[in-house]
Amino acid sequence: MKSKTYEHILVDHHDSLTTITIHRPSKLNALNIATIKELHDAFKQAESDTDTKAIIVTGSGEKAFVAGADIAEFADFSVSQGEQLAAQGQALLFDFVAHLSTPVIAAVNGFALGGGLELAMAAHFRIASDNAKMGLPEVSLGVIPGYGGTQRLPQLVGKGRAMEMIMTAGMIDANQALQFGLVNYVTPQEDLLPLAEKLAGKIMRNSSVAIAAAIEAINAGYEEGENGFDTEITVFGKCFGTADFHEGTQAFLEKRKPDFPGK
Ligand code: COA
Repeated sequence: MKSKTYEHILVDHHDSLTTITIHRPSKLNALNIATIKELHDAFKQAESDTDTKAIIVTGSGEKAFVAGADIAEFADFSVSQGEQLAAQGQALLFDFVAHLSTPVIAAVNGFALGGGLELAMAAHFRIASDNAKMGLPEVSLGVIPGYGGTQRLPQLVGKGRAMEMIMTAGMIDANQALQFGLVNYVTPQEDLLPLAEKLAGKIMRNSSVAIAAAIEAINAGYEEGENGFDTEITVFGKCFGTADFHEGTQAFLEKRKPDFPGK
């Protein structure tokens, strides 16, 4: 994939893996609207690139993944601008990432607050460095999480814990996040990206079309008006019509490693 140049993010692509790094170090990688638009563009490009089999999203530097939405940008917004901010952000980035068919791993390398934690939660799963701190501090600013946080945090950690985290506006450390199931692993900072790459490598050995189908079925269980079990039946059936299914089953029967065509 030919990587584009952006102002607020860095995109690296090698060995079928695209790494997107939010890069606004002077603002602890806070998400202004321009950064959200760039992230949308980069995720969209990675999704459409047939040579991208997994995506890692992380923050630049050692201090922050993302310290939240850019408070300076929305401080004087009106009611309708506030609603528009949440709607646009969810459509362009948070819901967009959650529904990508390419697996997205968030490597949380420091503060993941507000929109930062919401971005990490929109990813398909998360790992964290041991200095990471996570929270949804919006009520301390007189607002609530608007990029999906009131929905995804209870899904990931349970309603009571989410209520406490959101109402206290407090931060939890990486080990607490691990205990809550908010992140899958905690590592020293220098091991974070290597671990993300190792996990991506394990994923990329499998059928990308089956992984896309699995993401669709898992997400369906969390969608209003959808029945996850019904979606599972439909997408399970569809897998039988793919070249990957043919290759995967033949390889097993022939006692060899599969070479998935990815279709
Ligand atoms: N929006 C805009 N700017 C932010 C930001 C945010 N969410 N988070 C940090 N920054 C900026 C700071 O304003 C500061 O900029 P400046 O140097 O131009 O003044 C710079 O990033 C460094 O942050 P600073 O607060 O000096 O670092 P710190 O180590 O003292 O504190 C935090 C780190 C994360 C605890 C603190 O920055 C913070 O509380 N940020 C806001 C978190 C938040 O409420 N997020 C939810 C937003 S909805």
